[in-house]
Amino acid sequence: MKAVKVIPSGESVVLTYEQVEPPVSGPHQVTVEVSAIGVNFMDLAAKTGAMGGNYRPDVPGVEGAGRIVAMGAEVTGFQIGDRVAWVFVRHSYAQQIVADVDALVKIPDDIDDHTAAAVMMQGLTASHFATCFYPVQPGDIALVHAGAGGLGRLLTQIIKLRGGTVISRVSSEAKIAVAKAAGADHVIVSDNGTFAQEAIRLSAGEGVHVVYDGSGPATFQGSLDALRRAGTFCWYGPVLGGPGPIDIMSLPKSIKLGYAVFFDHIHTPDLLREKAGQLFDWLRCGALTIEIGGVYPLADADKALTDLQSRKTTGKLILIP
Ligand SMILES: NC(=O)c1ccc[n+]([C@@H]2O[C@H](COP(=O)([O-])OP(=O)(O)OC[C@H]3O[C@@H](n4cnc5c(N)ncnc54)[C@H](OP(=O)(O)O)[C@@H]3O)[C@@H](O)[C@H]2O)c1
Repeated sequence: MKAVKVIPSGESVVLTYEQVEPPVSGPHQVTVEVSAIGVNFMDLAAKTGAMGGNYRPDVPGVEGAGRIVAMGAEVTGFQIGDRVAWVFVRHSYAQQIVADVDALVKIPDDIDDHTAAAVMMQGLTASHFATCFYPVQPGDIALVHAGAGGLGRLLTQIIKLRGGTVISRVSSEAKIAVAKAAGADHVIVSDNGTFAQEAIRLSAGEGVHVVYDGSGPATFQGSLDALRRAGTFCWYGPVLGGPGPIDIMSLPKSIKLGYAVFFDHIHTPDLLREKAGQLFDWLRCGALTIEIGGVYPLADADKALTDLQSRKTTGKLILIP
């Protein structure tokens, strides 16, 4: 089978698409023939080491969808032929993956593989942010960064489902229509930190109840400034860089600030299936829509990642083996 490999090359790395040994499933694992793979910012860590720690995989990718083609003797609850999706299985940029069954969700018949692969990471993350980390209440005003991106679009839709108002921040005029189509009530165009005054004006001078910011250090201070008293700062973007050390006594108001991580939403297999099931229900009834902003052959994974980094894409990018 073929997979995308990360090959060191001098000071940097290159991604190649090459023949590798097929993975072999253990007794509690299955082998999946992959049909679609989600592209995520964290996949860039394979090239840049941006996630920190030891996360520098030799084959990138964590998310996708496909069909079970082999299974270990101890597997229960799944069968060969089942269509499944996953949000965190390493080495997903490949024609086949091996996964623990606890990491898998069955895909309902009326959800196609591309949609399933596109919704898992960003959908589960967005639902964590808007229903758990800060459960949006009717009337709340939220500032959503990168509102035309895959995560921003889904977050906007879930906030609207819960009766909130969305102020979306995007980096270019070209993205306004995508953010609006996702349901944003207002869109601010800014590719630097200058959006706070406009967000405060749009929230009747009070500031927003919650800001969702995964856009790195450039937006951090503006997001703090845009919050109202006792507002909540949901910070989530390790790949684009952290804000650095924070002196808690220097914070301007009595805000709540935290790093939200999607794993906390789905930390058991039952929760994974429950929360993914809710996303599928929302997709089925049209409450949630996915915009697939780019479909690339798996062999062009490097181009997909370069495009994601360029800030020119909207919605979700997927790879097809
Ligand atoms: N904590 C968690 O559980 C969790 C889970 C998933 C993702 N994330 C984080 O969420 C962020 C978005 O990741 P994603 O994979 O979901 O992609 P995504 O939502 O599709 O985000 C892509 C968007 O990020 C924005 N962006 C802001 N600064 C950028 C920069 N310097 N370079 C390139 N793009 C920039 C761009 O929008 P504009 O050009 O409009 O600003 C771009 O369209 C990443 O920081 C990722 O680490 C966190």
